Amino acid sequence: MNLPNGIRKKRSFLEIKENKNWITWNPYHSKLSAYILAKGAYWPFTKKSIVLYLGAAEGTTIRFLSNICSDGRIIGVDISPTSMAELLLLAEEKKNIIPFLGDAQLPKYYQPHVNSPEIIYQDIAQGNQLDIFIRNYTYFKPKCGFLMLKSKSIKGNDNEIIAQYKEKLKSNFKIVECINISKWAKGHRAYYVQ
Ligand SMILES: C[S@@+](CC[C@H](N)C(=O)[O-])C[C@H]1O[C@@H](n2cnc3c(N)ncnc32)[C@H](O)[C@@H]1O
Repeated sequence: MNLPNGIRKKRSFLEIKENKNWITWNPYHSKLSAYILAKGAYWPFTKKSIVLYLGAAEGTTIRFLSNICSDGRIIGVDISPTSMAELLLLAEEKKNIIPFLGDAQLPKYYQPHVNSPEIIYQDIAQGNQLDIFIRNYTYFKPKCGFLMLKSKSIKGNDNEIIAQYKEKLKSNFKIVECINISKWAKGHRAYYVQ
């Protein structure tokens, strides 16, 4: 993919426009930045996109998505009250972020805040991360999804686990793109599915 509008490359990092300034989008802190640098092919995000973000944490990546989807909405779900406290501060600054403290295994609780997301983005790093993603995808039926999968989150041989993940995704989705982002995020693959 060509670099999306409002994003530029500077040395080996990305920069993104926030107000009138260019700020660094560090691939070591954000797997979506790593996905772009690793030449992922898909970029469904537009100014108006509505994104359900599972595993929001303190909002490191959500901050950038909030700039990219400036007229849309990012609903950030996280189970950790400590992370949520920081995400709430970010949401005061950025009005298109809706934080939700809860478990991504239980979509019915945040459905009223989400309605119909166009994109699901998940970065949860738990043993059942793939099941959680498929459950949410089936529940909300978005146009597409990004899944940041950590092979280290479950016991076993890394390559075998990655192959199992791929097979399971292929049996659930028509399009499955797998990008190796382990240069920036140890043990991770970024998947785009549709
Ligand atoms: C690797 S961090 C996410 C980093 C974030 N995506 C970013 O780029 O800024 C994983 C997050 O998933 C959250 N998490 C783990 N299990 C969860 C669950 N069942 N439901 C919601 N959040 C969960 C953790 O609390 C943690 O904040």
